[in-house]
Amino acid sequence: MWWIICIFLFLPGSVISRPRCGGTHTAARGVIQSPNFPNKFPVPIHCEWIIDAQHVTSPNSTIKVYFTQLFVFEGLSFKEYQIYDSTYQLNGRDIHTVTETNVTKVSVIESKQDYLVITLKLDTIESTHLRVLDHLLDVYGFNITYEISPGPPRMDRCTMMDCGFTGTCYDHYTRFSCDCFDGYEGPKCSEGPNSLCTPDICKNGGTCTHIGDSAVRCECGPGFTGEYCDARFTPPAKECEDCLLSCPFDGREENICKCPGNGESPNETRNTDAVVAYAVTIKLMNVSNMKAAQLRGYIEGH
Ligand SMILES: *[C@@H]1O[C@H](CO)[C@@H](O)[C@H](O)[C@H]1NC(C)=O
Ligand SMILES: *[C@@H]1O[C@H](CO)[C@@H](O)[C@H](O)[C@H]1NC(C)=O
Ligand SMILES: *[C@@H]1O[C@H](CO)[C@@H](O)[C@H](O)[C@H]1NC(C)=O
Ligand SMILES: *[C@@H]1O[C@H](CO)[C@@H](O)[C@H](O)[C@H]1NC(C)=O
Ligand SMILES: *[C@@H]1O[C@H](CO)[C@@H](O)[C@H](O)[C@H]1NC(C)=O
Repeated sequence: MWWIICIFLFLPGSVISRPRCGGTHTAARGVIQSPNFPNKFPVPIHCEWIIDAQHVTSPNSTIKVYFTQLFVFEGLSFKEYQIYDSTYQLNGRDIHTVTETNVTKVSVIESKQDYLVITLKLDTIESTHLRVLDHLLDVYGFNITYEISPGPPRMDRCTMMDCGFTGTCYDHYTRFSCDCFDGYEGPKCSEGPNSLCTPDICKNGGTCTHIGDSAVRCECGPGFTGEYCDARFTPPAKECEDCLLSCPFDGREENICKCPGNGESPNETRNTDAVVAYAVTIKLMNVSNMKAAQLRGYIEGH
């Protein structure tokens, strides 16, 4: 395990109902962080931050929250409202809840409503702590940024995952950057004297990134898959997608597009979406009796 969650047991205190920390943000951009960040905060805790964009007049403005430094995977949720004040709330809708599964995957959330309410509610601190092998990183809570602006979220955003957990992700508002720990360098803090990424670790044009200081992963280029991008696959032709859903698959990649009565395998295409769907499909095809609808849902969900 490349990271260690430290478990601290605290007896839950009396149940609190009203938020005791947080605040209202009306500026176009800012930072939202857990109390005492990067240190421990007192528990039980109930904080509520309100991002209020009602005064913003520029059309198509949205509220974006960038998960630059997020170490909490429980008790943190995001809800949007059309109207929100202490006595009256209209059209509340949950838009995100941070979980152990999505904490490393989601890098930004966006709301088109006038109010975004961020709630941190926890009885214990155990799920808010991330340490990378005792020395690189030892932090509690979160330090994330928001902006109220027209247009889509900025593309160059980072998360701790993007910075390999060997550096810290910062939002400078005009750009994001990974600030690397000693011994690590490069845009993703996966180069430098302490890095385990060597030029030949990921094959076929794959990119190596750290996950903490003792593990690395490969992101494969188009046409390749596998832990080290050493497995080749043929992206399916468009007509193959339905074929995949209806044909029995014998586990051999070269047969994946050969439906009974369909004759030859269709020609290769170089469509990135298809590549992604394909990699997912091969994995799932091993599951016997996978229903077509489930499979399609899974692919669309990715
Ligand atoms: C706002 O969004 C609409 C619909 O997407 C678009 O037609 C319009 O041009 C946008 N306005 C501005 C100022 O970007
Ligand atoms: C976060 O993860 C949970 C459970 O894994 C999932 O239900 C939820 O849809 C995820 N949220 C987002 C925005 O991905
Ligand atoms: C919190 O995040 C902001 C924006 O990324 C950064 O400027 C600031 O230094 C961070 N604070 C701490 C304590 O890391
Ligand atoms: C899935 O099928 C592939 C291709 O036959 C095989 O290499 C792999 O070991 C299988 N995986 C599992 C989990 O059965
Ligand atoms: C598939 O490839 C073959 C040989 O390269 C070519 O003759 C044929 O026209 C192609 N078919 C399609 C549908 O592109």
